[in-house]
Amino acid sequence: MIKTDLSGVMPFVSKADIENITEAKLAHQRLLSGEGIGAGYTGWIHLPETYDREEFSRIKDTAQQIISDSDVLIVIGIGGSYLGARAIIELLKTAEYNNISKDTPDIYYAGINLSGYYLDHIVDIIKDRDFSINYISKSGSTMEPGIAFRVIRKLLVDKYGEEEAARRTYVTTSPSGSSLMDYAVKKGFKTFSIPSDIGGRYSVFSAVGLLPVAVAGIDLDRLMAGARYEMNQLRNADDNNPAFLYANARRLLYKQGKKIELLSSFDPSFRYLGEWWRQLFAESEGKNHSGIFPSTTAFTTDLHSMGQYVQDGERIITETIVSFGGAPSVLTIPKDEDNFDNLNYLSGMNIEDINKLAIPATKAAHIDGGVPVIEIRADGRSEYDLGALLYFFELSCGISGYMAGIMPFDQPGVEAYKRNIAALLGKPSL
Ligand code: PA5
Repeated sequence: MIKTDLSGVMPFVSKADIENITEAKLAHQRLLSGEGIGAGYTGWIHLPETYDREEFSRIKDTAQQIISDSDVLIVIGIGGSYLGARAIIELLKTAEYNNISKDTPDIYYAGINLSGYYLDHIVDIIKDRDFSINYISKSGSTMEPGIAFRVIRKLLVDKYGEEEAARRTYVTTSPSGSSLMDYAVKKGFKTFSIPSDIGGRYSVFSAVGLLPVAVAGIDLDRLMAGARYEMNQLRNADDNNPAFLYANARRLLYKQGKKIELLSSFDPSFRYLGEWWRQLFAESEGKNHSGIFPSTTAFTTDLHSMGQYVQDGERIITETIVSFGGAPSVLTIPKDEDNFDNLNYLSGMNIEDINKLAIPATKAAHIDGGVPVIEIRADGRSEYDLGALLYFFELSCGISGYMAGIMPFDQPGVEAYKRNIAALLGKPSL
C-alpha cells in the first residue's frame, strides 16, 4: 500500500490543520458520487475494476504478436498518450530499457515534439529493423503525433507494402467521433479504444498505457491488481486515507505561499514517472491563474545543482519525495588499498543502502532550510506497487482539484498554442 508520511510537514503547519481532512473527504465524496464538476470524465476512478476484459486480452495477444515479429515498437503519441507507458517501462526496466539484453522489442517514442532532428534519428535507428507502430491519440487530430505518424507510416509502407504495413499498425483512439478511428477501420489497422469518460492524462490503465507496457514484457495482471488494491484501499473515508493526507497537506502549504511542488526521487528510472505526474497535476490544477506549479528533481544528481536553490532560494517550495522499499542493488563498494578518497569507511556497503540513507539526510537538510517535505512511500518497485502508486496519484489529483474548486479534467489552456501554430502554418478553415 502507498503511505503518506507528513512528519516533514509538521514543523510548518499546525497538527490540527494537518488532521482536519474534512475538505478532502468532501471532495472525495463528490468524485465518487459523480456530483462534482466534470463528472463525465471520471471513468478512471473505477477503471482498475471495470476495464474491458475482452480488450485486455486482445492487448496481451497483440503484444505477443509485436514481440514475435518486431525488433522495435514505435509509440506515437504526446502528453497523456505516451507518458504513462514510458513511466512504467522506465521505472520497471530502467531508462536504459533499449540497451539492456532482453527478448522484447526496443521501444522508441515519436510525435512527442516537433523536432525534425529527433525524428530524423528515430527513422535512422529503425529503417533497417523490423518494426511496428502504436499510434495513440484520443482526438486523432494532435499535430505532433499526426506528423510523426505520417512519416513513420510512409517508412512502414515503403518497407513492407500496404498489406503488411497495415498489419503492423496499431491504433489507440476514441471509439466514436474520431476521424482516426474511421481511417484505421478503412485501412484495416487493429484498433483499441480510449473510453470517452477518461481524459488523456488519466488513461494509463486503458489501452493507451497497457499495449506499449505489455510489449516491454511487463505483467499487466499484476499492474492492474496493484491499481485495484489501491483503489479499494482509498475508497474508505477514514482519517488515515493517504490520498486525503497528501491532498490536504499540499493545499495547506499552497495557501501558505508554497506555490511550487517539487516531486523528487532518488533513482533516474523515476524520471518519466515524474513527467507523468507533472502533466497530471499541471493540466488538472493550473486553472484561473492559480494552482500549485508542479516540477521535478532527480536526486542525488540534482542535489549538486537544484539542491542549492531548494536549500537556500525563495521559500516557495514544498518537496514531495517518493521512496521505494525493497531489495538492495547487486553492487557493493570495493575497498581501495590507498584509500586516496577516504571512502574506505564505506567499503563492503551496498550502494542502494547508501542511496536510501540519502533520503533522511536530504529531508533533514531541507526541512532545516525551511522546506516542508511530504514523503510518499511505495512498498517496492514491482508492477503491483507501481499500479498502486499511479492510481494513488490520480485519485489525489482529482481530490486536490475539487478542493481547489476547479475543473480538473480539461486543459483549455493548451489550445492557445495550437491555434497560433495552425494560424502561422496557414491551416485552411474547414
Ligand atoms: O491530458 C490530456 O488530455 C492531454 O495531455 C492529451 O493527452 C494530449 O494533448 C494528447 O492528446 P491526444 O491523445 O488527443 O492526441
